[in-house]
Amino acid sequence: MMIKLLIYALALVSYTIARESQLRVGKAVNIFLRYGYLSKSMKVISYNDTERWLFKEPTTDIYQQVNSVTETEQHNAGVFSGDFHMEFCDNRRQLYQAYFRDYTVEWLDKPWEAFTGGWDSELAARRLGINNSYIKGDYSYILVRVVRYREVGKPQTTDFGSQPLVMSVRSKVRSMKPGNVTEAIKFMERFGTHYINSYTTGNSIYQVYVYNKQNYNIIKERLKVKGVSGLSKLDLYNFFAPWYAEHLGTIRSASGNATVEDWARKKLTYEYYVIKYITILKLQGNGRLLSSLDHLLGNEAILQLDLKSLNVIFQNDEQKKWFTEVLDNQIKLWEVNMNQKNDPK
Ligand SMILES: *[C@@H]1O[C@H](CO)[C@@H](O)[C@H](O)[C@H]1NC(C)=O
Ligand SMILES: *[C@@H]1O[C@H](CO)[C@@H](O)[C@H](O)[C@H]1NC(C)=O
Ligand SMILES: *[C@@H]1O[C@H](CO)[C@@H](O)[C@H](O)[C@H]1NC(C)=O
Ligand SMILES: *[C@@H]1O[C@H](CO)[C@@H](O)[C@H](O)[C@H]1NC(C)=O
Repeated sequence: MMIKLLIYALALVSYTIARESQLRVGKAVNIFLRYGYLSKSMKVISYNDTERWLFKEPTTDIYQQVNSVTETEQHNAGVFSGDFHMEFCDNRRQLYQAYFRDYTVEWLDKPWEAFTGGWDSELAARRLGINNSYIKGDYSYILVRVVRYREVGKPQTTDFGSQPLVMSVRSKVRSMKPGNVTEAIKFMERFGTHYINSYTTGNSIYQVYVYNKQNYNIIKERLKVKGVSGLSKLDLYNFFAPWYAEHLGTIRSASGNATVEDWARKKLTYEYYVIKYITILKLQGNGRLLSSLDHLLGNEAILQLDLKSLNVIFQNDEQKKWFTEVLDNQIKLWEVNMNQKNDPK
């Protein structure tokens, strides 16, 4: 298996020119190459492998040079420099959407489907850390996530269009004829459909709480206005405990790091009289635990990604319009295909 993979990797290197996998501002990707399966090539959600990687999606160079800035989040001793998020999800689709909220792909109405479209319920359950039966049933969810940002990459200029293009791209851009679908699609296959406008890396841990509709609606009403910071100890006992939720998911880390997940299992155990359970909300207001977690969450996953349409490289309005139109059509086709494949039975 390993050998086969290696040979395949070598073959890719020798037969494709100027194609590598780099998470860098300005690099182009073809989102159709792995539409529905992007979480296989971008480390965005818990994945059961021991190999260290962040981004495997093939990229191409479009611009001769891109002026971008990389900012590193400083570590402040004893402080957790991150975010606590809580999202209410009425159903499974909203849960997917919530998890992938910070990943945007221009022109896609449902960018999360580029990541989740290829999931069956078993894979979804494993990645989200919940029991399969709660993916299939008619449940509501609360996603709680603690995020530690490490690195932000963004362009220095917002005017990408004016940057000098790589020669091979420039000549194709010049010759592109509006009206020729084949040509536009070939262009996308060769160079890409989108470019990386910005990204944030780091790591996070998350837990999914599963509810029946009735209990969910009660919590939603009560907490909608207060948010996580307004959560009292009593709310915790009342709403996020095994006697109120149908199911408490396993705490997962975005990068799937086993050390981090083990830590959560050991340190985030909550005891209420004789009942013991594991809840990410134990971190809420606990400086000591948050500080430990701050060290554990490394630079291992993509937490935010903004892909913008490659139409910016066309200075000619007709060409730009044509590229956008073909891209939009292709996207609609993919969305329909995915929905047909995945309609819940
Ligand atoms: C991860 O992989 C290991 C070894 O292949 C397996 O034993 C384990 O059950 C897997 N865990 C999940 C959550 O899939
Ligand atoms: C998932 O839940 C079902 C029904 O509650 C239960 O029978 C099954 O053992 C659970 N599976 C796991 C892996 O916890
Ligand atoms: C459209 O583009 C393709 C591929 O570049 C080319 O082979 C074909 O001749 C073009 N068709 C027209 C009508 O220009
Ligand atoms: C998992 O996280 C721990 C703690 O941050 C780190 O030491 C380790 O290198 C990580 N493992 C992998 C495979 O990234």
